[in-house]
Amino acid sequence: MRNPFKYGGIVTGDDFANRTGEIREITRDLSDSEKLFMISPRRLGKTSLIVNILERLEESGTHTIYIDLYKATSLNRLLELYSRKIALTLENRLEKAISLVREIIPGLRPKITIDGKGEATLGIEYINTRRDVIRMLNQVYDLPQKLAEKKNKNFVIAFDEFQEILNFNGESIEKGMRSAFQHHDRVGYLFAGSKKHLIGDMVYNSNRPFYKIGRVINLEKIPEEEFRVFLGDKFRVTGFEIESGLVDNILEVTENYPYNAQFLCHELWDMKFEEKKIALSEIEIAMDSILNEETPFFARIWEGLPLHQRNVLQAIAVCGGEKVFSKEYISENGIGPVSTLQTSVKLLIKKEILDRKEDVLFINDVFFKEWIRKKTL
Ligand SMILES: Nc1ncnc2c1ncn2[C@@H]1O[C@H](COP(=O)(O)OP(=O)(O)OP(=O)(O)O)[C@@H](O)[C@H]1O
Ligand SMILES: [Mg+2]
Repeated sequence: MRNPFKYGGIVTGDDFANRTGEIREITRDLSDSEKLFMISPRRLGKTSLIVNILERLEESGTHTIYIDLYKATSLNRLLELYSRKIALTLENRLEKAISLVREIIPGLRPKITIDGKGEATLGIEYINTRRDVIRMLNQVYDLPQKLAEKKNKNFVIAFDEFQEILNFNGESIEKGMRSAFQHHDRVGYLFAGSKKHLIGDMVYNSNRPFYKIGRVINLEKIPEEEFRVFLGDKFRVTGFEIESGLVDNILEVTENYPYNAQFLCHELWDMKFEEKKIALSEIEIAMDSILNEETPFFARIWEGLPLHQRNVLQAIAVCGGEKVFSKEYISENGIGPVSTLQTSVKLLIKKEILDRKEDVLFINDVFFKEWIRKKTL
């Protein structure tokens, strides 16, 4: 029997706790060819949600394209990725997809290339000048709309980790996209990302091309009630007997973060696989074992931080993230002067170790927070 709890990768099907409200709304808006931004802290379930939404749209007869911008490490790679996805959506046989690209994007030279998994896929011959790549990209942006009109079948394109577009320096990319996308009435766009400060600036700053291009969705945690039932059922259907309140406790220590809750359940399930019985007291044992497993990873982050930033994290791990800039908090934790504290907080947010909701600061990964408490103090 396999462990029913999945953590780390994309979850779909039975492994995905439904998020029914979000799915319904976002699917509807994308079917209406709207443009949406989706922002959330790391590991809250953006990618899984996107993939589930695209599956639905595909089933209801829409062409869908998923582009992970972490894979676009250069403009040439972005062009390659974009054209590959469009061509392979229409034509899943490689040879045919290659002729299709030749036909619909004159000037682009497609070829067979080997992808990261060692499989043959569609590649594009390297283009030397930035200007020429941008020119080709501008043509590619318009393709989904043209194809949708021609085939009478809408497109939905999801960009994951959209903030990575900023690595290509220069507004010309953003501008090119904006001026193409705004005319597309048969293509829905979803721009998702976790770097709130970067994405936020793209949509809320009136000087930026993406200003007010569409609605912004701040993805929240999975509604606790839904997630509780989901996790409890996974134990039950695999024949586990769990002490009453176990799942509540798990959600409490993991603060209802889906990744952490699934990780902890996974650990407990493995730990008690023979007995198939879990008591409340075993949560702590499982937590300890996770923190030990994760130590090499957390220690590397920790060792890379200057002392002041470590002190700030220790303070927040122990005293919480409210009123961090107040005199009392600063003197109690010895993390002054305030200007240094401001710099440290800013840098920790930039590194995505800290996050801010309203005026409260919090450590993004609850396991890291626990690790700081247990192993550095
Ligand atoms: N709807 C869900 N149901 C069950 N588990 C989920 C759900 N969403 C997320 N998870 C859990 O969280 C993990 C991370 O999900 P996912 O990769 O989709 O998040 P993400 O926000 O895209 O993360 P990242 O910021 O690292 O890209 C999953 O492996 C799974 O354990
Ligand atoms: Mg993701």
